[in-house]
Amino acid sequence: MNKLKELSKFLICTDCRSNLKYLKKTIHCQTCGRKFRIKNGIINLLPKHFAYKNPYEWVRIKKDDDHYTLDTIEKIFETFRDKHEEKNDMLELVSKYDMNIFGNVLCLGAGICVLPISVKMLFPPSKLFVVDIAQNILEIGKKLSELFEVSPKFFINASVESLPFKKNTFDFVISSSLLHHTDIDVSFENIYRVLKRGGLYITLQEPTCADITKRFYKFYFKTGFEKSKKAGVKRDVFSPKRIFGSLKQAGFKNIIIEKYKNPRYISKGVFTYYAYYSFLKIIPFLIVRNFFPSKVRIIAKK
Ligand SMILES: C[S@@+](CC[C@H](N)C(=O)[O-])C[C@H]1O[C@@H](n2cnc3c(N)ncnc32)[C@H](O)[C@@H]1O
Ligand SMILES: [Zn+2]
Repeated sequence: MNKLKELSKFLICTDCRSNLKYLKKTIHCQTCGRKFRIKNGIINLLPKHFAYKNPYEWVRIKKDDDHYTLDTIEKIFETFRDKHEEKNDMLELVSKYDMNIFGNVLCLGAGICVLPISVKMLFPPSKLFVVDIAQNILEIGKKLSELFEVSPKFFINASVESLPFKKNTFDFVISSSLLHHTDIDVSFENIYRVLKRGGLYITLQEPTCADITKRFYKFYFKTGFEKSKKAGVKRDVFSPKRIFGSLKQAGFKNIIIEKYKNPRYISKGVFTYYAYYSFLKIIPFLIVRNFFPSKVRIIAKK
């Protein structure tokens, strides 16, 4: 079946929430009349109020950061092929819980797609829907997938806070390092809606810190927060307790939140305080565990 036609069956309009139709090689909303743009094989299903503003000139792919541009894609490929921490991270989790990932899998905030690439390598039959709010970073992800010779099925420019999918669509929803860019209550509500009953939400490498420490970090890294806000990137950090409460509120059950012993650092400039993490290890374990920033992985069931 034509790929767009197949995709249209899973979609709703992010403006009026009607089902979408495939018509004359494009996807349309027959209720509000919106026609969704497709550029370089990536469909833009962002709600109208920011679909035409090119949101998220994402800080990591600024021109002067040569790590994430289409020109340096070969270099990115080599780095990830050699290290591929995301794959090991996922492998560790699925081995521990004896888990098989199958069916319709939605990967949110996929960025340069290292997580969906890992999932597709580990579970080739899964049908992957890759989503990110930034079109430009998805273009890099699409090229990177081609170099790895794995093929997520669909690349979609959309927001986790307004998912363009029908309810009960996905067997799995996965993400990595995404929640701190979103309103978690709205995100979990959306994720819960699109998951099938019994479906799992899995997130890896999510930054957290205790509620009482949060104020201090917000103050300490105020300039970083402001800089990111200017670039249109939301940034916050939530405590495991806050995340647990929000998941429960959305309806999730069997919630597991585990702290990483050795969290993977995010790139320079983003959550810079991870750079201090090794230094923090000299402070007694309990204090570090409870008051300093760390990262968690989460599993929750619908
Ligand atoms: C810290 S990066 C993590 C990228 C990737 N998951 C990884 O682990 O390398 C966060 C990603 O989430 C995307 N993002 C931010 N807010 C989003 C939202 N509301 N909906 C979907 N994606 C979003 C950003 O564009 C970025 O690619
Ligand atoms: Zn509509």
